[in-house]
Amino acid sequence: MKTLVVYSSKYGATKKCAQMIATELQGEVELINLLEKKPKELVKFDQVIIGASIYVGSVSKVVKSFYEENKEFLATKRLGLFLSCMEGSKIEEYIKLNFGEKEIKSLVKQIACGGILDFGKMNFFERTICKMIYKNKEGQNQEAQKITKKTVLDCLDEKAIKEFAKTMNQF
Ligand SMILES: Cc1cc2nc3c(=O)[nH]c(=O)nc-3n(C[C@H](O)[C@H](O)[C@H](O)COP(=O)(O)O)c2cc1C
Repeated sequence: MKTLVVYSSKYGATKKCAQMIATELQGEVELINLLEKKPKELVKFDQVIIGASIYVGSVSKVVKSFYEENKEFLATKRLGLFLSCMEGSKIEEYIKLNFGEKEIKSLVKQIACGGILDFGKMNFFERTICKMIYKNKEGQNQEAQKITKKTVLDCLDEKAIKEFAKTMNQF
C-alpha cells in the first residue's frame, strides 16, 4: 500500500502530526510539505491524507489549491483528513467551510488532532486571538491568565492520531 501524506504547517504543529501519522502507517509513505513542493504522479498512490492547520477558521491557500486542483481524482481514492486546531469540536464546520459539503462523504476518516500554541513565535495580534481561543476552551479560563510570551501549550491528541493511522491502515 502506498500512501501520500500532504500537509502545510505555519509553526510546526501540523508537521509534527504528519510525521507521527507517517510513522504509524504501514507500507510505503511519501510525506510532502506543500509549502516546499507539489506531489507528482498522484496516480501511483492507493490513498491520500491531507493535513492542515486552522487559522481563524481557514486552512492555508496551498492546501485549498491542492484540494481544488485534484478534487476529482481524490474522489476516486481513499482520503483521510487531519486538522491541527484548538477547537476540535468545530471540525465539521471547518471541513464544510474549507472543502465543501459534498466532500465529507468521500472521506474515510477525519480528525481534529489538537494543536500547539507557541506564544513566543506569535505576533501581538496572534497572541491576542490565541489567548481568546484558549480562554474559551472549557475550564481553561484560569490557566489562560498565566500565559506569557514564553508559554508553549502542546494540546496534540496522540491517541486520536494513532486511531486515525489505524483506520487508514485498514485497507
Ligand atoms: C492567529 C491564530 C489563529 C488561530 N485560529 C484558530 C481557529 O480559528 N480555530 C482553531 O481551532 N484553532 C485556531 N488556531 C490554533 C492553530 O490551529 C493551532 O495552533 C495549530 O496547531 C497550528 O498549527 P501549525 O503550527 O501547523 O500551523 C489559531 C492559531 C493562531 C496562531
